[in-house]
Amino acid sequence: MHMTSTPAVILQDVWKHYRLGEVFFEVLRGVDLVINRGEFVIVMGPSGSGKSTLLSLIGGLERPSEGVIQVLGRTISRYSDSQLKTYRRKLVGFVFQFYSLVPTLTSLENVTMMLELLGSIPSKTVSQIAREMLELVGLGDRLDHFPSQLSGGERQRVAIVRALAKGPQLLLCDEPTGQLDANTSQEIISLIKTLSKRLGITTIMVTHDKSLITHADRVVYLRDGRIITETVSEGGFQIEKDHSSHVT
Ligand SMILES: Nc1ncnc2c1ncn2[C@@H]1O[C@H](COP(=O)(O)OP(=O)(O)OP(=O)(O)O)[C@@H](O)[C@H]1O
Ligand SMILES: [Mg+2]
Repeated sequence: MHMTSTPAVILQDVWKHYRLGEVFFEVLRGVDLVINRGEFVIVMGPSGSGKSTLLSLIGGLERPSEGVIQVLGRTISRYSDSQLKTYRRKLVGFVFQFYSLVPTLTSLENVTMMLELLGSIPSKTVSQIAREMLELVGLGDRLDHFPSQLSGGERQRVAIVRALAKGPQLLLCDEPTGQLDANTSQEIISLIKTLSKRLGITTIMVTHDKSLITHADRVVYLRDGRIITETVSEGGFQIEKDHSSHVT
């Protein structure tokens, strides 16, 4: 397919540093990365290597200190705060480790709330979309349950629906199975992959779980704020692309 070879995300020499008093943290140190439309990419690497920071930059939660980030032709690294807000709201779905559902809202309300934020969908349609998507992920009989009345896997399914219901172009998942057992993790990843492929969404997922990498089109490894290797799966073969020559 031609469409899949169009880049969705381009990072060029992206750096991120933080200053805390006297101390200077270099979290990302020159990341170059191209992710194609509709691709399902897993990001791995040791704790503190910059994985969550990378996702926040791509998701427009923060801006890089240096370098360029383009998403679907938009140079988001130059966006103002209000442009970033619109970008996040319209184009990006987020799924986190701790579900981050609103505890006082039901499954249905957690999803409709997100759709209402868009402000452009009639409320009758909002509730219909939310209902249908929750049914699609097997939660048709859990619509009126509060998060505390759901299992971890069910909560994460609500969070996935909440992220996808608005029809984002990009889905960013930060350790979405970090709280789940092995079987539920596999189910959740299959669900994320099936839905994102069906909807043509580009997905970037951070995980520590090696058993999940078979689901990925590509695995990117970060270490000390740099990409060290990329594994591309092509017809079942794992091809190593070594970036270490870029490291100085
Ligand atoms: N806002 C911030 N201010 C200062 N330092 C930060 C900030 N955000 C992240 N860092 C530091 O940047 C480094 C990378 O953090 P990041 O959360 O991206 O790592 P990670 O790869 O996601 O790790 P983990 O696997 O533990 O989630 C850490 O050392 C962290 O303390
Ligand atoms: Mg992290």
